[in-house]
Amino acid sequence: MSTTEPYIYFNWPHITGKEIVYIQEVMESHRMAGNGAFTRRCQALLEARFGFAKSLLTTSCTDALEMCALLADIQPGDEVVLPAYTFVSTANAFVLRGAKLVFADSQPNEPNMDVAQAVSLITPKTKAIVVMHYAGIATDMDPILKAAKAHNLLVIEDAAQAIDSQYKGHYLGTLGHLAAFSFHETKNISSCEGGLFVSNDVRFHARSEIIWEKGTNRTAFFRGEVDKYNWVDVGSSYLPSELTAAFLLAQLEHLDDIQTKRKHIWQRYKELLQPLEEGGKLHFPFVPDYATVNGHLFYLVCESLDERQALIEYLQARGIMTVFHYQRLHSSPFFVEQHDGRPLPYTDRFADQLLRLPLHYSLTEADQVRITDAIKAFYNA
Ligand SMILES: Cc1ncc(COP(=O)(O)O)c(C=O)c1O
Repeated sequence: MSTTEPYIYFNWPHITGKEIVYIQEVMESHRMAGNGAFTRRCQALLEARFGFAKSLLTTSCTDALEMCALLADIQPGDEVVLPAYTFVSTANAFVLRGAKLVFADSQPNEPNMDVAQAVSLITPKTKAIVVMHYAGIATDMDPILKAAKAHNLLVIEDAAQAIDSQYKGHYLGTLGHLAAFSFHETKNISSCEGGLFVSNDVRFHARSEIIWEKGTNRTAFFRGEVDKYNWVDVGSSYLPSELTAAFLLAQLEHLDDIQTKRKHIWQRYKELLQPLEEGGKLHFPFVPDYATVNGHLFYLVCESLDERQALIEYLQARGIMTVFHYQRLHSSPFFVEQHDGRPLPYTDRFADQLLRLPLHYSLTEADQVRITDAIKAFYNA
């Protein structure tokens, strides 16, 4: 089947127009490496807006997670409890440090981790619990924080998708000891590739700057606190260039506009597809009372893998791109031999049945009507 209507992409990165102005400013300043004025402006803005105790721009969320694993001082054999339904970076950061991964299942009605199960997986070897807020919708943090306190564990939030979203009135990324965000081009706020490391615990602030700057105290040197900088710890090059920070600043300055638009699109999907949900043909994102929606991602849960594949192909034939999401980590080719064999049926459910609909700033009302009409036609056929 062919369509004469324009193709609707799953993602279409939004450019505010100010990016090029700031990038030009950086080039004219001849100060283009990282840890400069634009980096500091982004960090200050993010800390003021969301209440992060300390933040550092990174080249990706993957890098921010690696910083978290280094700061958590994970040693070979330490156990880390984390969701099986997440991106590989959540897991890789800890595998790189020699951790033993202990995967928790999703909940029956939402992809986020089953927190009761996660708590039950804590052993004397557990060093950290990692949560991931899927679709920017909060994981239930109170039981995690309580268990972490009782067992003296670190809580790390993979908040890759969760900018500007809350749990019980607190911004995500402020609840754990450490957190990581993504500014990849698919995220609400983007620097093409990029991320943010967050520390909410003063014990980690000074060391995070050192790890970020290749194991040196260069940041303290820039502030005039030491007269030369030296190799003082382990570290890597986790900081982005000023060009990346300049791009990000333009986006951050338009945060309210971007968020208003994305949340509206999210809400419209819900309204337009309500009849199908009420008819029990598909399931929407579940939003618990304690969570807010940040308009990052709107998903459907189909009845089966086959149904999802048929829907993807049906929409593709009508010029609409939709995509599934994470593969299950516990039975991935890399990890299957190391997994303890526990079945994780709800992780399997979301890996097989979850489908993401186009959601980006340029999506129009007409696009949404076309997408949702096509979905209704598929289910009513
Ligand atoms: C939950 C989660 N964590 C980490 C990442 C990695 O982000 P980045 O591409 O910025 O490294 C992603 C990527 O989308 C993600 O979905």
